[in-house]
Amino acid sequence: MSSRPELQAPPEIFYDDTEARKYTSSSRIIEIQAKLSERALELLALPDDGVPRLLLDIGCGSGLSGETLSENGHQWIGLDISESMLNIASERDVDGDLLLGDMGQGLGLRPGVIDGAISISAVQWLCNADKSSHEPRLRLKAFFTSLYRCLARGARAVLQVYPENVAQRELILGFAMRAGFSGGVVVDFPHSTRSRKEYFVLTCGPPSLSTAVPKAKGEDGESCSDDESSGDEENQTVSISDRHRPRKKQKITKKGRGREWILKRKEHMRRKGNTVPPDTKYTARKRKARF
Ligand SMILES: C[S@@+](CC[C@H](N)C(=O)[O-])C[C@H]1O[C@@H](n2cnc3c(N)ncnc32)[C@H](O)[C@@H]1O
Repeated sequence: MSSRPELQAPPEIFYDDTEARKYTSSSRIIEIQAKLSERALELLALPDDGVPRLLLDIGCGSGLSGETLSENGHQWIGLDISESMLNIASERDVDGDLLLGDMGQGLGLRPGVIDGAISISAVQWLCNADKSSHEPRLRLKAFFTSLYRCLARGARAVLQVYPENVAQRELILGFAMRAGFSGGVVVDFPHSTRSRKEYFVLTCGPPSLSTAVPKAKGEDGESCSDDESSGDEENQTVSISDRHRPRKKQKITKKGRGREWILKRKEHMRRKGNTVPPDTKYTARKRKARF
C-alpha cells in the first residue's frame, strides 16, 4: 500500500483519534513539522517590525505548525477538516483559534483580513477525489479563490506541499495563478530524495518587484546531503521556478492552425512578393457567425 496518507483515506477518516494522537506524539514528526513551519514563516517575509500579525494555518492539524507562529509572536487561525486533530490541538491548549472546515469548499473568511497564510503538508490532499461529488479542479478553484479573497493585498501565502508528480504541481500552481496570485515554487534540497521540500510562495496581487519569488540560497548548484539531519546550511541548495499568470491559450483553428501559423504564412507570401494585408490584432481572430 502507498505510504502517502492522502492515497489511503479521506483526511477526516485517516486522521482519526488514534492516528491524530500517534502523529502528535512522534518526536520525528514534531521536529520535521517545526522545521517546515519555520521555513514557511521565513518565506512569508513579514515586515521585521515586531508587530504581531494575524496569520492563517490551513490544514493546521493538532497545532504543530501553528506553534511556530505563536513562538514568533503572531496570532493565528487554524483550519482543519479532522475533528480528531482539532480535539488534540484544543487539548494541547494551542494559542490559535480553531475552525473545523474543508478548505476545498472555500475558507469562508472575511475579505482582506489575513496578513499571511501558511499551510504545511496539507494542500496535496485537494488533488484527490474522496467522494463522488468531489472534483479536484473545482475544489482547488474554491480554495485558491477564497484564500486570495481573505488575504490583504500584497500579503503572501506559503504552502509547503508534497505533490505526487509534476502534473500535480502544475495543477495546483495553475489554480493559484488563475485566482490572481503571482509567485512560484521554491524547492529546498532539490537533489535529495528524502529532504527535498517544495513551497509555493504566492503573493496576493499582480507580479511586481516585491512579489518576486524569494532569492535562492546556494544557487550555485552544489549538491546537498541526502540526510535530513545533516544541518549543513551551506550545502542546502534551493532552486526556484518563477511563474506568473499562465499565458492565454493560443486559439487554434479546426485545421490546427493558430495565429502563429497564419503570421508565418503571411510573411512567407510577402517574401514571395504577394500583396498581403498588414498584421493587426484581428489577424487570425475567429469571425462571428454573421460573416
Ligand atoms: C500532515 S497533516 C499536517 C498538520 C499540520 N499542518 C502540521 O504541520 O502538523 C495534514 C493536515 O491537513 C488536513 N487536511 C487535509 N485535507 C484538508 C481539507 N480539505 N481541509 C482542511 N484540512 C485538511 C488534515 O486533516 C491534516 O490535519
